[in-house]
Amino acid sequence: MQAEATASTAEIGAVETPVARPRLVPTLSIVVPTYNEKGNIRPLVAAVASALEGRLWEMIIVDDDSPDGTWREALAVARDGFPVRCIRRVGRRGLSSAVVEGAMSASAEIVGVMDADMQHDEKLLAPMLDLVLGKDPAQGQVDLVIASRHLDGGGLGDWDQSRRKMSSFATSLSKLVIGGAVSDPMSGFFMTRRSVFDAAVPELSQQGYKILLDLLSSSPQPLKIIEVPYVFRDRLSGESKLDVMILAEYAFLLIDKLSHGFVPPRFVLFSIVGGLGLIVHLLVLQLLQATGAPFLQSQAIATIVAMTLNFILNNVVTYRSQMLRGKDAVFGYFIFVTACSLGALANLSVANLAIQNVESWAFAGAAGAIMSAVFNFSVSTAFVW
Ligand code: GDD
Ligand code: MN
Repeated sequence: MQAEATASTAEIGAVETPVARPRLVPTLSIVVPTYNEKGNIRPLVAAVASALEGRLWEMIIVDDDSPDGTWREALAVARDGFPVRCIRRVGRRGLSSAVVEGAMSASAEIVGVMDADMQHDEKLLAPMLDLVLGKDPAQGQVDLVIASRHLDGGGLGDWDQSRRKMSSFATSLSKLVIGGAVSDPMSGFFMTRRSVFDAAVPELSQQGYKILLDLLSSSPQPLKIIEVPYVFRDRLSGESKLDVMILAEYAFLLIDKLSHGFVPPRFVLFSIVGGLGLIVHLLVLQLLQATGAPFLQSQAIATIVAMTLNFILNNVVTYRSQMLRGKDAVFGYFIFVTACSLGALANLSVANLAIQNVESWAFAGAAGAIMSAVFNFSVSTAFVW
């Protein structure tokens, strides 16, 4: 009998059905993006564990191969028995993309996102979870709960004047993309159903820091949103990763969302850098002319200065995530210069063609400039970065 059953199973190539193993499925997956947060991991896990006492939760730490070994600390905490998992991403950087990756690996149906540095008040996690679980009959079905610094009872903590201004400027710009329904679309602290992430993920830009704004503008369905106030606390240990480049990434996100993905944000930045290069070119030229240098010599020097500056700016801003260093940068520089020279030729030939057909120097000039911008951008993207 036994032998017969085995034989027929083998015949149809089926595998034995494994016995289901009981497992505690978490209600909430908390995604924590980290970069150099080693000193914050244990205090954070301890604080979350006590704030979520009696609930089933897991924490997914998504670490971009931090030089301080944050991922090692996260694994150590997991091995101590805390419900922590760690995704160590190698050769990648970015808060938003880290959050998306964490959310995509969540086992729970509800996903919370918070920072590792204790600036987000973990005591809000339980009430936020209850709202998404629909435990507040007055609210009914809630899709997204945002912890907001801009509601009564919330606050920015000890931010200085300039950071407050920058944040409020960024918040006003976000209205272009999502309107004004949410008081803190820049919050890094929120909770939603995993299905909200799943529905939006194909459209997510994943650029830079503003994952919530990205999610709000990419969701195919209107979401029922509730905001709860909190006060932004001081960072426990380590330092903020926010720098001026984050502004460029924010510009990326806005361009991408406003153009509905039709204009590559990189191309816009590349063109802005090109425009700056032109201004620098003219300034250098004017300066050299003022010293009485011969025109062609001045023009050659101005061209080299402008191209070099453009290369550097594109390297650190436009193609930040693929920044070239050392030997690669020198090699890339020469290809870039060659590409730009070919681009100038393309510019001249298109402008020449245009002026023969349409008698407008402005049109011909613009056609030439667009041609060389597109040409330089394509070659740079393909061969330099
Ligand atoms: N994986 C990964 N990759 N994590 C990152 C990266 C990265 O490139 N950059 C930053 N992080 C992590 C940090 O380690 C931290 O846990 C969290 O993202 C927030 O980074 P901070 O550098 O502490 O940002 P902040 O305090 O200036 O601003 C935060 O709070 C604001 C208010 O909620 C961010 O969350 C902002 O988006 C938010 O507006
Ligand atoms: Mn922080």
